[in-house]
Amino acid sequence: MEYRQRRIALQATDGVFIIPSWPEALRNPDVMHPYRPDSSLYYLTGFAEPESILVLTPKKSVLFVRPKDPEKELWEGIRLGVEGALALTGMDATYPIQQFASQLPQLLNEASAIYYTLGSSIDSMVLEARSGQLRKKGRTGLSCMPLHDPTQLIGELRIHKSASEIALLEKACTLSAEAHQELRRIVTSGMYEYELDAAFIAYTKKRGCERLGYPSIVAAGVNATILHYQTNTKQLKAGELVLVDAGAEYGMYTADISRTFAVTEMTQLQAKAYSIVLHAQQEGISMIKPGISIQAIHTHVCDILTEGMKELNLLKKDGAPFQTFYPHKTSHFLGLDVHDSGIYMIDGASRILEPGMVITVEPGLYIPAHIPHPLAGTGIRIEDDILIEASGHRNLTQAAEK
Ligand code: GLY
Ligand code: MN
Ligand code: MN
Repeated sequence: MEYRQRRIALQATDGVFIIPSWPEALRNPDVMHPYRPDSSLYYLTGFAEPESILVLTPKKSVLFVRPKDPEKELWEGIRLGVEGALALTGMDATYPIQQFASQLPQLLNEASAIYYTLGSSIDSMVLEARSGQLRKKGRTGLSCMPLHDPTQLIGELRIHKSASEIALLEKACTLSAEAHQELRRIVTSGMYEYELDAAFIAYTKKRGCERLGYPSIVAAGVNATILHYQTNTKQLKAGELVLVDAGAEYGMYTADISRTFAVTEMTQLQAKAYSIVLHAQQEGISMIKPGISIQAIHTHVCDILTEGMKELNLLKKDGAPFQTFYPHKTSHFLGLDVHDSGIYMIDGASRILEPGMVITVEPGLYIPAHIPHPLAGTGIRIEDDILIEASGHRNLTQAAEK
């Protein structure tokens, strides 16, 4: 039902939306990368198979899917097929994917613009149908139908989470937060980063998470200064900090949590740096309510981090600038994708938060190994997932202690 309402919202536009699935990716001969459906296609259909294309006209919703194929299904698993997809999705019609090119010209006649993101394997079919439609009219001197990118329109739907989406996000966040607790419980010196990586996967998969939302970052010691480190092969040593940035998906929605903790015990200086990041994060979170802009949170967090960097004697005249120690932003949207859809600026101004949005708050402090400082080679990030509510906010990941 909800999928249908989302489609209807797009159908109010006088355009034909064409939304293909991600292609499957070959890993090496006969072995595919695990398939993860396209978030927007899933958001509008609940359909998760590859080789599918959604076409929405102002009048109808059509899904092209892989037909049943007993031989392929023997090797790769069940395909819903044309009838199964119709029953699952409640489309007006479903057709075999092979009919996409032949049916598209007729579907284009039902609107005055095309909404399609160029860059996929069906580009040539879409462009051919678009120019073919004009050719059929004879000599008119008219332009082809305008072609728009639907990313922003779909993003504006996806940015506001419904109650059922929030329930899935809450589940992903709670299980992921519990898994972070588990890592804190089992960490010892001598372990390898991949053991924590594996424990996170085991904890969340055992409880129904289908996959991770992104490869886990398990970064001990100097590795934590690499923002998206994911090699996860180093041995953990006493006295080091370990930064874990990991989030699992539940029902296609992902958590995104970072915690930094000591392999054994924090030194006074590590604890001082940690408390600066924690303070910045708590202050950032405490501001969150409808009407606050994303930039205002970032600015406040940066102010606190700047003070902290001064206290740590990191910001020296003619030395490395603030961005060396905090090179990323504080927040992003979260949902089906870890960096979820939705625009961050409107008319040149930072976006104002509204109830139903979900953002991360993830300040960090990274002191590169080459900087002469007692904390050189240290990275700290603390990240929670925050739902904006009419009355303020709710931290969906508070089960992971800080
Ligand atoms: N895990 C990626 C990020 O925090 O944005
Ligand atoms: Mn994040
Ligand atoms: Mn993260």
